[in-house]
Amino acid sequence: MNQVTPPDLHTDPTQFSGVDVYVVAGNPISHSKSPTIHKRFAAQSDQKMYYGRLQPALGEFKIAAQAFFAAGGKGMNITVPFKLDAQALADVLTPRAKIAGAVNTLRIEDGKIFGDNTDGAGLVRDLLAQGIQIQGSRILLLGAGGASRGVLGPLLEQSPKEIIIANRSNAKADELVQLFSDLAVSLDVALQALTLGDLEDVVKTTSPFDLIINATAAGLSDVSPISDVAASNIFIPKSFAYDMVYGKATPFMQQALHRGARVSDGLGMLVEQAADAFLIWRGSELADTIDSRAVLAELRNF
Ligand code: ATR
Repeated sequence: MNQVTPPDLHTDPTQFSGVDVYVVAGNPISHSKSPTIHKRFAAQSDQKMYYGRLQPALGEFKIAAQAFFAAGGKGMNITVPFKLDAQALADVLTPRAKIAGAVNTLRIEDGKIFGDNTDGAGLVRDLLAQGIQIQGSRILLLGAGGASRGVLGPLLEQSPKEIIIANRSNAKADELVQLFSDLAVSLDVALQALTLGDLEDVVKTTSPFDLIINATAAGLSDVSPISDVAASNIFIPKSFAYDMVYGKATPFMQQALHRGARVSDGLGMLVEQAADAFLIWRGSELADTIDSRAVLAELRNF
């Protein structure tokens, strides 16, 4: 009989004396690639550390995180569904974590818990590494939930010409536009909200777009957030379609491929946000020692 050892879902820092301990916290968490990614960064930069998993029960993130830090844990990445709880737990937030409305990286220093969000920076770095010109481009951002909010600030800072946020229901997209309107004005970026239905109307969207980012949860349930009519308006062969989901060619990516556009899943964003978290914990002077694109290539070959 094949016996599979379950990955440790409750890393206890007291079990690792003399080693700095980090975890990724989420529920579920056994599927997470973060331990593999951070293990590679630690090896590249010769850091003595352990990076494990933590799976708090739903509603128990705060208790589990406090216990982890009280036991000597140094830092934590946070994924679904705890990013808002992590923001609430932090004593101090970086400006980008504040505007993102969520925290994906915690660290402890002198008893204080600091919260940051590296998701948006991770997306931007992955796009740039794939040769995508963001400055001056027209961007369509699909979805107006936490994932969109987390990346809007860093995208705006790249000075695209325009960002259109399209969501199933327009109230949430309107809210995001309100929230980011000052930043957009200060950077001279046109920011506008539409519904996903509006994308079927070329006049409303002045389609096509240079960059289309799927930040909806639709890919997880194997559907595309946009209709085929909308897809025909949005994508042209010079478009780049990016899905934040990773590990599969989603229906959204297939619609884009079908119209000759270039596509990417979100694995590079995962690796790049991890690189930023690693440097926050271990020191930015290690930036030259880690090679995130090599780690990404290794993950793709697994
Ligand atoms: P997250 O924090 O991961 O972004 P969220 O806040 O639940 O998750 O937001 C999910 C986003 O995906 C929302 O924009 C949601 O649209 P609504 O605001 O209209 O709910 C969008 N979404 C989820 N499933 C979708 C689907 N099947 N088609 C289109 N949009 C979808």
